[in-house]
Amino acid sequence: MLSTLLLGVLVILVLYILSTWKKKKQNLPPGPTPWPVIGNIPQIDRLAPYDSLTKLGEKYGNVFTIYFGWNPVVVLYGYSTLRDALLGQADDFSGRAIVPVFERIANRKGLVFSNGPHWQQQRRFSLATLRNFGMGKRSIEDRVTEEAKFLLDFFQGKQGKPFNPAPEITAAVSNVICSIVFGDRFDTEDKTFQTLHKMISENIAFLGQRGFQMYNTYPNILKWLPGEHNKIFENASKLQAFLGGLIENHTLTRDPNCPRDFVDSFLNKIDEEAGNPDSHFTMESLTYTTFNLFIAGTETTASTIRWALRFMLRYPEIQKKIQDEIDNVLGSEKRPSLEDRVRLPYTDAVIHEVQRFASIVPNGLPHEALENINFQGYTIPKGTQIITFLHSALNDKNFWDKPEAFNPERFLQNGKFVKNEALIPFGAGKRSCIGEALAKTEIFIFFVSILQKFTLKPVPGEDGPIELIGGGTRSPKPFNLCAEWRV
Ligand code: HEM
Repeated sequence: MLSTLLLGVLVILVLYILSTWKKKKQNLPPGPTPWPVIGNIPQIDRLAPYDSLTKLGEKYGNVFTIYFGWNPVVVLYGYSTLRDALLGQADDFSGRAIVPVFERIANRKGLVFSNGPHWQQQRRFSLATLRNFGMGKRSIEDRVTEEAKFLLDFFQGKQGKPFNPAPEITAAVSNVICSIVFGDRFDTEDKTFQTLHKMISENIAFLGQRGFQMYNTYPNILKWLPGEHNKIFENASKLQAFLGGLIENHTLTRDPNCPRDFVDSFLNKIDEEAGNPDSHFTMESLTYTTFNLFIAGTETTASTIRWALRFMLRYPEIQKKIQDEIDNVLGSEKRPSLEDRVRLPYTDAVIHEVQRFASIVPNGLPHEALENINFQGYTIPKGTQIITFLHSALNDKNFWDKPEAFNPERFLQNGKFVKNEALIPFGAGKRSCIGEALAKTEIFIFFVSILQKFTLKPVPGEDGPIELIGGGTRSPKPFNLCAEWRV
C-alpha cells in the first residue's frame, strides 16, 4: 500500500518536473509555478477571478502563463499588450479556443465557437445581414424604440412602488434581437420566454465559474459525473430545440423573395449554396448561429443597462445632471434617437463610464493560437488557450486616472465627449463583438428613455454600496428600485 502511494507521488513529481522543463523549453511567458495535475486553478479566486489575474499581471508583467490542469493558458494583460496582439497581430490572435464545454454545446459550428472558413463565412454573412436589417424598412433603432415604449409602460404601471427591473430589461433587450433574428417579439409575461432567459443567464454565469475551467480541463472524467455542467448542457439543448422550432416555422411560412428577418435571409443563403457540398450554410449552422446571436445579444446588453440603473441609485447627483441635460436638449416628449447622442455629451460620458467600470466580460471569450505565435519575445505554441483580459485594459493605470473610481468626467473635455482607446468592453480586432453597434443603440435609447420619464430612487434601507454577483462575469446583485414619474 505504502509503496503504491510512494510510486504515485513519484510519478506526479516526475510529471511535474517534466511539465516545468517543457514550459521553459517552449519559451512560454513567465508565470506562477503550477501545481501538478491541477495547475494554477486554486490560485484563481472563485468569486473574483479577475482580481487574481490582476495580481498576477502586476507580478509577472504584460504576458504571463497560468496552467489549467496541465494545459498552459497565456494571459494578455494591459491595454498596450491587448492592442499589440489583437490589432497589431490581428490574424495571429483571431482564433477561438473551442474548449470542451463549447465543443459539446456547438460542435465547432456557428459564429462564436468555430474557426477557419466556417467562422469567416458565418461572421461575414451575419455582419452584412444585421447591417441590411438596420437599413431596411424598419430600422434597428425603430425596433429598440418600440421596446423602450413597452418598458416605460411597465415602469409606469409600478406607480413608484419598489420592483426589480431585471426581468423586464432582459425581456426588452431579448425582444430586440428576436425581432431582428425571428421577426417577432414575445409577450414579456410569456412563461417560455422567461424560462429561456433563466437558462441563458445560468449558462453565461457558468462561463465564469470554476466548474467551467474544471470541465474544460478534465472533460473525460467530468462528463460522467453529476454537477452544474450537466444543467448547462441541458439548457443549451433546450434552447437549441426552441430555436429549431422557430426556424422550422420559418421554412413553412417564408417567401424567398421577401426575407422578413435574419432566419429568412439565412434560408435564402442555404438555397443559394444548395449545389455546393462544402457549403458552410446548412440547417445545422443556422441553428448554432441564431443560438449565438440570441445568447450573446441578450445577457450582456441587459447586464450593462442594469449596471447603469444601479449607478443612478448610487449617485443621485449624476442622475440629476443627466436629467437636466435631457430636459434641455430633448424636453420631456421628444423620443430619444441615436443622433441625439452628440447633443447629450454628459449622458454619453456616463454610459461610457458605466461600460468601463462594469467590465461585464472581464476575460473576453477565450482565444487560441491556431499556429505558433511569436509575441513580445515569447512563443505561444499552437493549441494554447489565450485569455484576452479586457478588464485589465478597462482598469489600466496608464490610460485611466484612478480607475477604481466611477468618474464620468474622464470622458469629457470642455463639455465635449472624448474617447479613450483603452475602452474595449467589446474586445478588439478580428474576433471583436459583432453586436457592438446594436448594443450601443439599445443602451443609449433604453437608458435615456427611462431617465427622461422617471427619477430612480433606492428602496429605503437598500441603498448600500453596489455589490457584485460572484463569478467570472461581472453583474450587480439583483436590486429593487422605485421609479417616480417626472412631470
Ligand atoms: C454590452 C453588450 C455587449 C458586450 C459588452 C459584448 C462583448 C463581447 C465580447 C467581449 C466578445 C468577445 C470578443 C473576442 O472574442 O475577442 C463578444 C463577441 C461576440 N458578440 Fe458581443 N457583446 C455585447 C453585445 C452583443 C450583442 C447585442 C450581440 C448580438 C448581435 C453580440 C454578438 C456577439 C457575437 C456573435 C460574438 C462572437 C464574435 C466572433 O466570435 O467572431 N454581442 N462580445
